Amino acid sequence: MANTGSSSTSIGRKLIMAASGLFLVIFLLQHFLINFTSVIDEKTFNEISHFMGTNVLIQFVMQPILIAGVIIHFVMGFILEMKNTKARNVKYAMNKPSANSSWMSRNMIYTGAVILGFLGLHFYDFWVPEIDLKYVQGLEGSPTRYFHELQHRFEDPVRVAIYCVSFVLLALHLMHGFGAAFQSVGVTNKRYLTGLQKFGKIFAIVVPLGFIFIALFHHLNQ
Ligand code: HEM
Repeated sequence: MANTGSSSTSIGRKLIMAASGLFLVIFLLQHFLINFTSVIDEKTFNEISHFMGTNVLIQFVMQPILIAGVIIHFVMGFILEMKNTKARNVKYAMNKPSANSSWMSRNMIYTGAVILGFLGLHFYDFWVPEIDLKYVQGLEGSPTRYFHELQHRFEDPVRVAIYCVSFVLLALHLMHGFGAAFQSVGVTNKRYLTGLQKFGKIFAIVVPLGFIFIALFHHLNQ
């Protein structure tokens, strides 16, 4: 018999997952566009970074919202995975998952865990030194420091390799997640859904490839 109580919480969880995921996708797009300016023009990249790093609204409103979004998405992802594993073990012990779902949809938790690991490294590389400089040491720092700091981070080939592998896993994560999110937030019109899912697949390839390009560009242009 259907348990409406638990299925409505499960829909709620999926909605939170989808909404936080789509929010992170918007962040990812602006993050990509800003970082892409670093391969075009050093001055523009420094100006945008300085604005982002000193604007009160971005620092004290958007940044905490972003970090909350990341935490909610990962915590909810782990809860969903645990519930799904339990349900699969009970109900579908005889199912052959590879026959009716993609590798990407079955491995969201692993691709997500790698992205989480990447974020740990990425925060250590970029975010922690900024927070330390501005809010711990209380220094202003040169408004033209951003470009050189970014280039310096991509000197080490091992670091670049870790970043690039993470971006490939990010592509696989987005390839399933982006399309699934539209379904979860209730897009039912078949034409819209197909269009949005196509857009999601293109995004999932173009943006991570672009990040790989940025990392390799700075590594090769030291
Ligand atoms: C080549 C690729 C990338 C470059 C060059 C890059 C660069 C940066 C830089 C310079 C910052 C520091 C911003 C600050 O001053 O606070 C930053 C922060 C951050 N990055 Fe990236 N990033 C890349 C890829 C990614 C990816 C793929 C993700 C997500 C999966 C990501 C997530 C974040 C987050 C969440 C922050 C903290 C944002 C904040 O609150 O300031 N980055 N990144």
